[in-house]
Amino acid sequence: MRIMNGAALAKKIRSVLAIEIDFCKSKYGRAPKLSVILVGNDPASMTYVKNKGKSCNEVGIESDMHYLPFSTSQEELLSLIKTLNEDDSVDGILVQLPLPKHIDKNVILNAIDYHKDVDGLHPMNVGLLNTSEECIIPCTPKGILSLLKSENVEIAGKHTVVIGRSNLVGKPMAQLMLRENASVTVCHSKTRDLPYLTRQGEILIVAIGCPNLINADMIKPGAIVVDVGINSVDGKMVGDVYNSIDVSSIEKKAAAITPVPGGVGPMTIASLLENTFEIYKRRIHSAKC
Ligand code: GUN
Repeated sequence: MRIMNGAALAKKIRSVLAIEIDFCKSKYGRAPKLSVILVGNDPASMTYVKNKGKSCNEVGIESDMHYLPFSTSQEELLSLIKTLNEDDSVDGILVQLPLPKHIDKNVILNAIDYHKDVDGLHPMNVGLLNTSEECIIPCTPKGILSLLKSENVEIAGKHTVVIGRSNLVGKPMAQLMLRENASVTVCHSKTRDLPYLTRQGEILIVAIGCPNLINADMIKPGAIVVDVGINSVDGKMVGDVYNSIDVSSIEKKAAAITPVPGGVGPMTIASLLENTFEIYKRRIHSAKC
């Protein structure tokens, strides 16, 4: 079984980006800038946001971090988004999810200027992805596709089974694989006979956030398995499929798998950096900054 090393590919992407960004910075007189908003102090979100800021700085993207208290109102958050939408020095805006329950996530995501929607979660970008037009692709699905392509995984005509239907991963992943001419099945919590369907997956993408839900019996022999899960079990990070302590049973079934950590996670951040740089270039060329 091959281990699809997302960490190594992400490192390569970051080093290429750093060179390109340095070149553009001298040419256009400013660096790309990503504004990141975190409401509250959820520990996992704090870690993700810090990693995003650190990765930005590493490649020469200016990171503009906004840490807001949990008590922030929807109106206050909307007001900050309006300011960032109108700030020509800001290329990308990311509101870290989940948001506190008193804030309507959809109202917030819809308020972001879709040209600056680095997460690709605005309905305009969602629609453009569904009609296979140029758009900003959500970071995790984009990172997974880059990894599959760099591993020379054939996608066209392959039966891809996606487990999870979130707006962040499952749904855009399914659309992206359709756009790549895969045949796609999407499974979720109400799916009947999940093992029957997972066994059909020549490419199996698991994004449910539940450790050990998928075992070796549920994997088609020779499948390419992408594990999006990041779960903490007894203080150890494990995936929805991948557990570094016990890969032996999966090893006999799958042709390849993404490890956890070091698989999809670093690719998500690499794609965020790519999206930010892409938006910056579009804005520079349309002289909107
Ligand atoms: N929370 C977990 N993953 C993500 C992501 O990719 N983007 C945002 N905005 N929030 C997240």
